[in-house]
Amino acid sequence: MKDLPLSVDPNLAHASTLSSSFYKDHGYLERSKDRIFARSWQWMGDLDPVKIPGAVWPITLLEGCLDEPVLITRDSQDRLHVLSNVCTHRGMLVAESPGNERFLRCRYHGRRFGLDGQFQSMPEFDGVCAFPTERDHLAQIPFGTWGPFLFLNLDPQCALEEFLRPVAERLNWFPLGELRYSPGRSRDYLIKAHWALYCDNFLEGFHIPFIHSSLNEALDYGSYEVELLPQGSLQIAVSKGAEGTFDLPSTSPDLGKKISAYYYWLFPNLMLNFYPWGLSVNVVKPLGPEHTRVSFRCYVSDESKLGAGAGTELDRVEREDEVVVEGVQKGVKSRFYDRGRFSVAREEGVHHFHRMVAAAMSVPG
Ligand code: FES
Ligand SMILES: [Fe+2]
Repeated sequence: MKDLPLSVDPNLAHASTLSSSFYKDHGYLERSKDRIFARSWQWMGDLDPVKIPGAVWPITLLEGCLDEPVLITRDSQDRLHVLSNVCTHRGMLVAESPGNERFLRCRYHGRRFGLDGQFQSMPEFDGVCAFPTERDHLAQIPFGTWGPFLFLNLDPQCALEEFLRPVAERLNWFPLGELRYSPGRSRDYLIKAHWALYCDNFLEGFHIPFIHSSLNEALDYGSYEVELLPQGSLQIAVSKGAEGTFDLPSTSPDLGKKISAYYYWLFPNLMLNFYPWGLSVNVVKPLGPEHTRVSFRCYVSDESKLGAGAGTELDRVEREDEVVVEGVQKGVKSRFYDRGRFSVAREEGVHHFHRMVAAAMSVPG
């Protein structure tokens, strides 16, 4: 299928949604790997697997989409490194399982690297001209940390600080350092839909009264707020009652509001959902044109607040969303559907996302 330019009118009142071909044509998905995902900040989880000097942690970045082999290490001087996990000799994976090492040795022909990725030695290479060079080190991948979390980006278009600034500034009181990973509350959902349809659904509260009856009972729909950010958007869920709401500090711009959740979405596939009990991170991972994995990773800072507010029953709400997103997947493939109009009152977050997709897809790459 050919990849025509995508366009979305900047004026919400005039705009229509992305053409359904973006969700249907495989060419767009293939191109979005380089134009969207390989240029974006990806949340890699917390730093626990690389806490100790000598730690070696191989991962595959966005398995099923980018499939990029990455190696995270902590060297003997306690410095963190994010490296390409591909041997510079003939391309074998350097580390195949997590461990604790003094150096990295490729098991194919014995090339050795430091935990900082620097080439150290290679057997049987006497007589090889102009060797080694810079290209024989493992490639360094840009990365950064925020609280306990690691982010990496194969080709950054903005600094991590800039990407996270609106979150870090508004929630500068949030106890990031107290978050504890809760495996029992974390899980992956496999959704039979295009990744962007999952994001579309996340980006509006418009459907809450229609789809999420229990959540709708807890929230004050009329006070639901959306704020557009340079790299994403924020939705603020205001509660009907005081139960399950944040104790906001006097410095918060939201002081006086009964806020039960801050739902951040950061382009293209990261959702940071802050609740009074902690943080639910959702990472949307394309697996194919009609298949998406959404990883929910739950971090708790205050167990006593787990039972109330918008942050309860996350699994139920997720399943309710899944049903409609899978329904839309079937609908956008129809010969009778191409694009729809936006609610000015309720869908500016979706419009913003569509504008960002159209802009990213139009950059040559
Ligand atoms: S591929 Fe690694 S040493 Fe040959
Ligand atoms: Fe929803």
